Amino acid sequence: MPFSTLVLAAGAGTRMRSARAKVAHELLGKPLIRWVIDAAKAAGSSNIITIVGHAREQVIGLVEADTIVVAQDERLGTGHAIMVARDVLARTDAPSSLVVLCGDTPLITSETIAALVASQQESNAAVCVLTHILSDPTNYGRVIRDETGNVLRIVEEKDATAAERAVTECNSGAYCFNVPVLLESLGQLRNDNAQGEYYLTDVVGICVAQGLAVKAHVVDAEETQGINSRVQLAQATASMQRRINTAHMTAGVTMLNPDLVWIGPDVRLQSDVELLPLTFLTGTTTVASGSVIGPNSRISDSAIGHDCTVEESVLVDVVLEEGVSCGPRAYLRPGTLMKAGSKAGAHVEIKNSTIGRNSKVPHLSYMGDAHLGEGVNIGAGSITCNYDGFEKNSTVIGDRAFIGSDTMLVAPVTLGEDTVTGAGSVITEDVPSGALALERSRQHVVKGWVHKHTRRTERRERAEHTEKDGKGKNQPHKKENAQ
Ligand code: UD1
Ligand code: CA
Repeated sequence: MPFSTLVLAAGAGTRMRSARAKVAHELLGKPLIRWVIDAAKAAGSSNIITIVGHAREQVIGLVEADTIVVAQDERLGTGHAIMVARDVLARTDAPSSLVVLCGDTPLITSETIAALVASQQESNAAVCVLTHILSDPTNYGRVIRDETGNVLRIVEEKDATAAERAVTECNSGAYCFNVPVLLESLGQLRNDNAQGEYYLTDVVGICVAQGLAVKAHVVDAEETQGINSRVQLAQATASMQRRINTAHMTAGVTMLNPDLVWIGPDVRLQSDVELLPLTFLTGTTTVASGSVIGPNSRISDSAIGHDCTVEESVLVDVVLEEGVSCGPRAYLRPGTLMKAGSKAGAHVEIKNSTIGRNSKVPHLSYMGDAHLGEGVNIGAGSITCNYDGFEKNSTVIGDRAFIGSDTMLVAPVTLGEDTVTGAGSVITEDVPSGALALERSRQHVVKGWVHKHTRRTERRERAEHTEKDGKGKNQPHKKENAQ
């Protein structure tokens, strides 16, 4: 049955000590509030409402594309946050179930949200509260049940008696409400409590007092952990990392040490991919089977084909076809296409370039705005001089070209098929197919130069010593020098 979702995100999050809105902080590259919204969508939520307040401009930018944004100008409590959305909730076409989630609980799963909705709808309850058992319940609202286990109400820590504080079942802050009952109950909320706030939690007691059914759905506390500090952000990151990596390993990905691999939520990996320590895969990266990534590599928004190796390298928005090898220490930047069997070796940087099938750029090179055909070999230290200080220019290199070491290819320039350049050449003009291009001065050899140079140095040193002595004759010194 359909349901809507309301995400609470108006709070300040002062314990983050940040200029950034709390829910805009990222966990594995995705803002906290996006984790919550995406979980609600995956659970089947029809429409989503976001309550914004503190640092709202930052939050709105993250949610306006797919949620209805409602501003809570004064933060008068969680109940008040629902009141400001009253008009949106009262729409006749809205589903009769509403899930309320906190924007700072990124670990909540779509399965749990769906189970919460099912529990409320199947029992036709006024509300089903998502609860968790905490060894340290400090600061949480306690779930108070009667002797037979029926939920009676939720009491906030600051309003609780000592006996109530001893309860370890706590309110996670997530609920599924029957909308007409919720709207009716909001009118009865009062702020005569320890914090002077309108508590959403009071709706539970109001419903029980009216004889309406109230349910609780208990989940593992890891899922409902809210993020209030950087320490909790790191803990939640570790939890999500474990969850994601376990799923990939279960699906056939090998990890030498899953604690040292970080994979974003939108990354797709085929089976028989191997990930070595200190690998970061982010954005929309995909890796096909047989590829080995790492150690110490970062790949974002890239497509890695079958049987590639990426060792100690950084790849951003690139495509590798099958059998490509990168690194150690390659830096492949946006717009790079490495065709099948090609290589970007040690200390090689490539940007906005196509490296043709089986072409190699093995050592210490920069290829920018270049188009290499098949079977090209780029000698060590060769670079494209693609920028003339004003514009980026392109270099085209035909199939099977052999570029000698330390060739400077001054773009725009085109080298035909089967061309060769001499080592150390500065190529400024196009080279026709089959030609050798050589640009360097002829080597000059001076026979006996070293010997003569040594004798000249000795003579000068002797003269200097003589000057220091002030006499002109120093036999022992002379002898020493002669040895
Ligand atoms: C609330 C619950 C408590 C529960 C806890 C779980 C109430 C009264 N208490 O505690 O039972 O154990 O969550 O974390 O609801 N927010 C707004 N507008 C406001 C106030 C809060 O949008 O005026 C948002 C916050 O940004 C946050 C969420 O509501 O995302 C919860 O608020 P928070 O202050 O963290 O929770 P408590 O009220 O302490
Ligand atoms: Ca030269």
